[in-house]
Amino acid sequence: MRIPDALAVTWAHEPEWLAALPGLLEELADVWGLALEEPVDTPHSLVIPAGDAVLKLNAPSHVEADTEADALARWGGEGAVRLLARDDERRALLVERCVPGTRLWDAGLDEAEVIAALLPRLQVELREPHPFTRLADEADRWAEDVPRWYEASGRPFERVLVDLAVDTYRTVDRSASWLVNQDLHGGNVLAAEREPWLVIDPKPLAGERELEASGLLRNADDVSRWLDMLAGLGLDRERARAWGVAHNLAWAWDEVRHDWHENHVAEARRIFG
Ligand SMILES: Nc1ncnc2c1ncn2[C@@H]1O[C@H](COP(=O)(O)OP(=O)(O)OP(=O)(O)O)[C@@H](O)[C@H]1O
Ligand SMILES: [Mg+2]
Repeated sequence: MRIPDALAVTWAHEPEWLAALPGLLEELADVWGLALEEPVDTPHSLVIPAGDAVLKLNAPSHVEADTEADALARWGGEGAVRLLARDDERRALLVERCVPGTRLWDAGLDEAEVIAALLPRLQVELREPHPFTRLADEADRWAEDVPRWYEASGRPFERVLVDLAVDTYRTVDRSASWLVNQDLHGGNVLAAEREPWLVIDPKPLAGERELEASGLLRNADDVSRWLDMLAGLGLDRERARAWGVAHNLAWAWDEVRHDWHENHVAEARRIFG
């Protein structure tokens, strides 16, 4: 089985995992009875269609994906792909295949309208115990990390972005326990038959509903229009914008290069307005 070059580049710092992949694939195909097809050329995880299913393997240090299977299980196929099987030890999941699988980004539709119909079904309230990382715990960490990275890198962009981000982390609502997805956008919503559109690839947290704005605003042409849509669903408009800045800044630091991803900083700036 060919391992996509882009995947090998992204995870060059995890050579053991890359080397183990052919063996893992053989074992999983055997256990789950899969006829593996060609892998999708995607850099962040190994994604391989197999008949009516898609096999996905996440790298060991890709911690944001730790509870991807739990979110899919919680949704039970409502607005998201069904989880068919999971193997946590191998960091593998088997999900329903979307056919035709066109990304919402590429469909030439009003994306906000499609997302507005999906989001209320995906934002479910969680009861303890649940396996999801709490946004409040992440926010505590980001409140330390982001200013530290900013200083260490010689304050390479406007301070107002960091100030808003830190204020947002520090005011995190510790009692909120909505299932929210840090990576919801039109690239992770695929055309399907069981429902017209299904979400894939969640990076879940438990916390404020407004956090969900992060992925949507990161990829938005018109930030205001998306904020209007989110406000229409009952989210706080300015809090959604604030999380858009704060979360994208937290995700803008490259741990491998020890520097900022310029494009992510630019996205935070655009959302700030
Ligand atoms: N259930 C599915 N049905 C059909 N195609 C899928 C499915 N899951 C993934 N794919 C295809 O594989 C691509 C990458 O999948 P996914 O988003 O889960 O991986 P990823 O590595 O986390 O990607 P990225 O980080 O780039 O968003 C999708 O854009 C889609 O083309
Ligand atoms: Mg994706």
